[in-house]
Amino acid sequence: MPFYHKLGDMPRKKHTTFYKPDGTLFREELVSTQGFSSIYSNKYHFWEPTKTLSIKELSSQENVNWADCPIENIHFYTDKIERNGDFYSSRIEYMQNPNTKIYYGRPNKNPDYFYQNIYAHEYIFVHRGSGVLKSEYGNLKFQPWDQIIVPMGTIFQMFFDDVNADNKIMVVESDSPFTIPRHYRNEYGQLEEHAPYEERDFNFPDEIDAKDEKGEFRLIKKAGTRVFEYVMPHHPFDVVGWDGYLFPFSLNMKDYNPKTGRIHLPPPIHLAFITKGLVLCNFNPRYFDWHEEAIPAPYFHSNVESTEILYYVEGDFMSRSGVDIGSVTMHPMGVPHGPQPGKTEGSVGKKWTDEYAVMVDTFGPLFPTKHVQNCQDKDYWKSWLK
Ligand SMILES: [Fe+2]
Repeated sequence: MPFYHKLGDMPRKKHTTFYKPDGTLFREELVSTQGFSSIYSNKYHFWEPTKTLSIKELSSQENVNWADCPIENIHFYTDKIERNGDFYSSRIEYMQNPNTKIYYGRPNKNPDYFYQNIYAHEYIFVHRGSGVLKSEYGNLKFQPWDQIIVPMGTIFQMFFDDVNADNKIMVVESDSPFTIPRHYRNEYGQLEEHAPYEERDFNFPDEIDAKDEKGEFRLIKKAGTRVFEYVMPHHPFDVVGWDGYLFPFSLNMKDYNPKTGRIHLPPPIHLAFITKGLVLCNFNPRYFDWHEEAIPAPYFHSNVESTEILYYVEGDFMSRSGVDIGSVTMHPMGVPHGPQPGKTEGSVGKKWTDEYAVMVDTFGPLFPTKHVQNCQDKDYWKSWLK
């Protein structure tokens, strides 16, 4: 997180004695990134974080490569996928490249274990559902349309208020951190007045409930496609306090302020987060371009070095026919895309769009997995012929 935050108890200065009520020391842990060169947090545990009772490798994740997937514009539906599992186990992988994986899931359980992604940062868009994300850093409540950023290495769980509700999540795994675009910030890191969100829009863990409990606690460590089970002799959430810049946080999509122009502005104007391998944009309801001859629908587009993913959240999608809530369109690098027949002309004179969508553009190819085959609109690439 690019802002400083602290929660709970800690010593006046780092790396100094800090005693538990029984007279023994709390254990300080520095969680740092890029060696010691980027953001970090200092946590204070009841117990040494290195204690482990057992380690075993669980079966690796299934190989879901769709090796002979044609290179074409693809559309698939994710709102009717099987409901099976919790915030982690319900995830179905639909797209991947060496830096990025994109999953959708419909959780219908809450976890009885702890989870840690040790090779990837996670962006979790809560399309439907509410509850609390519990981590070493405290509790972060979530509600529909929250975009939660969980830094690599964070031990956490997500509990949904109602596991029988139609909960739905989108997860983007990235091997580099999700950050706020540099041009949204001044030299001190403060958000510029022209940024599409402000510090007050971000939600932080706001209560810490340190667990001084011993026992056997299962921790699932995900390392790429390999998965390990560690059993810890103490509760993983044994942190009484922490401070720093590295912790889970959220931004609700409805708090994103869209920008518009006299003529069509390109997607980077809708940037929310970036990594080294992708940009992530929020498309929110907004006024259309106000030039008297403006064409609000986007132009045809060949993004020669990028693959464009759009996840349709809610509303009326002005440039696309046949899509529904939960649809995903994937326009791969090397293949042009644009409005379907009639959509360009139909947009002229329109004043407003009600669309909500999340866009992910990867720098380089992104590959559909074989799960896409189960929910694909196979004639999508022909939709420009009509
Ligand atoms: Fe595009």
